[in-house]
Amino acid sequence: MDWTQLESACGECRGCELYKTRKNLVFGTGNRSADLMFVGEAPGEREDETGIPFVGAAGQLLDKYLIAVGLERENVYIANILKCRPPRNRDPLPEEGDACIGFLREQVKLIRPKIIVCLGRISAMRLIKPDFKITREHGIIVKKGAFAMTAVYHPAALLRDPAKKEDMLRDMKNIKAYLDSTIE
Ligand code: URA
Repeated sequence: MDWTQLESACGECRGCELYKTRKNLVFGTGNRSADLMFVGEAPGEREDETGIPFVGAAGQLLDKYLIAVGLERENVYIANILKCRPPRNRDPLPEEGDACIGFLREQVKLIRPKIIVCLGRISAMRLIKPDFKITREHGIIVKKGAFAMTAVYHPAALLRDPAKKEDMLRDMKNIKAYLDSTIE
């Protein structure tokens, strides 16, 4: 599948009910040959309105961390597990994740990033392991076949609890150092 086929298959997906209430599909954005791919949970209100992931308050905070460690939003790829907003931002249902995860897998196959960074616990539990503990395991980089994986706090969690910001900066710096170390 190429990008055009994938995006249109995603837009036409009727695998769960969320297409009925979304305003826009939030497929993913950024550099399709990125070394670094971020994966969040599900689009929120601003993302649903614009069709672009991480553009609301949490996304603006993520942008600040990217700048702080010398990464640019244009050079990374950002997507979510779910491509449609759950009504009133309720937690995604497991079956919605099951219906949608295949699109993320195809995105990963096309991008072939060096590292996938889960934004928050829900994404980490889906992509790294079901019992992932974000407070204990954030920032740990694990090799998974062709690429590495890690998870950091969801930027929305940092807005709720600024005490976590120090850990976030450290994790993001480590991720940048990891990427720099993989340059051949
Ligand atoms: N939170 C997410 O997990 N994803 C977004 O795109 C926006 C907020």
